[in-house]
Amino acid sequence: MVAPSPISQQSIDQAVRLLKQGQLVALPTETVYGLGADASNPEAVAKIFAAKGRPADHPLIVHIASAKQLDDWACEIPESARQLADSFWPGPLTIVLNKKPEVPLAVTGGQQTVALRVPNNPVALVLLHAFGGGIAAPSANRFGRISPTRAEHVAEELGDSVACILDGGPCSVGVESTILDLSSDKPAILRPGRITRSQLKAVLKTDIALSPQTKIRAPGMMAVHYAPNTLALLCPGTTFADMVDELCSQGKQIGILSFSPQFADIPCQQSIQLPADAEHYEAALYNALRELDKLALDNILIEQPPDSEAWAAVNDRLEKATV
Ligand code: TXA
Ligand code: MG
Repeated sequence: MVAPSPISQQSIDQAVRLLKQGQLVALPTETVYGLGADASNPEAVAKIFAAKGRPADHPLIVHIASAKQLDDWACEIPESARQLADSFWPGPLTIVLNKKPEVPLAVTGGQQTVALRVPNNPVALVLLHAFGGGIAAPSANRFGRISPTRAEHVAEELGDSVACILDGGPCSVGVESTILDLSSDKPAILRPGRITRSQLKAVLKTDIALSPQTKIRAPGMMAVHYAPNTLALLCPGTTFADMVDELCSQGKQIGILSFSPQFADIPCQQSIQLPADAEHYEAALYNALRELDKLALDNILIEQPPDSEAWAAVNDRLEKATV
């Protein structure tokens, strides 16, 4: 089992060597930890799918050192992609573009498009510059589980499958990047994240669709994504206290995840109060879910956040994590 490595010139050099040998390296990004492999090496990429237990038709994000490398991976790149890269890279925005013919289909899940991102994390950037090529990296969790926001999370879940885990400390953003599809002439958000639709619209000056994929929840597929093992329930603040009473009266062992101060001291087995602003909440969410999940309670009861754009990424993930 591999333990997280502190960041040093030596550990970065070792990670580069391992990537070049076709091995798996877990790396910090500002969103979540990634399970990285050399994106130009199909055998290395196959190890990602094996380690995660992920179906081979799920495409991966290719991480690059700067927007200058866009042309190494994508073709027919619209001006809008370069504008967005200028505005938001390095940062939590993934752009889907038409792929160059030489990009392995193993990376793109068999599709003719490729997802690209420059992460805003100093360790990831140093690694990408030293490696020189693209690093294919999904979130470093087993398929369908909560994304890791600390090196320990990766060690717990994938410590036996990776050659190295670079420990960059807790991730600052804490939820996965916004994914914007620019491969057709109709821009569409495939996954909401810290970069909001309004921020994207302000740069593109066109309307941006919310892809049906983010709305339709195919049972048994999307619904298991990001899920803790414990049955998690989402409940509005207005009926939250009643719900807690109800579950407790049924003899249920419950964990609470709330942000409104009035729910901080409700009696239950374990309560975690998260910050009441979306950005700090986002940064703390996955670690809190993991902590509650470890207690093997009957239910995790989550206070429903506001239905506003600032909370779009959180609401998307909570809907997928709950029943
Ligand atoms: O913040 C993030 O995006 C993190 C860090 C590690 O960068 N990565 C991440 O990767 O969340 P993953 O594999 O867990 O999620 C990537 C998503 C998947 O839902 C996948 O379907 C979508 O990106 N995706 C990748 N390539 C795509 C493509 N060509 N077309 C459409 N969707 C794509
Ligand atoms: Mg993931």
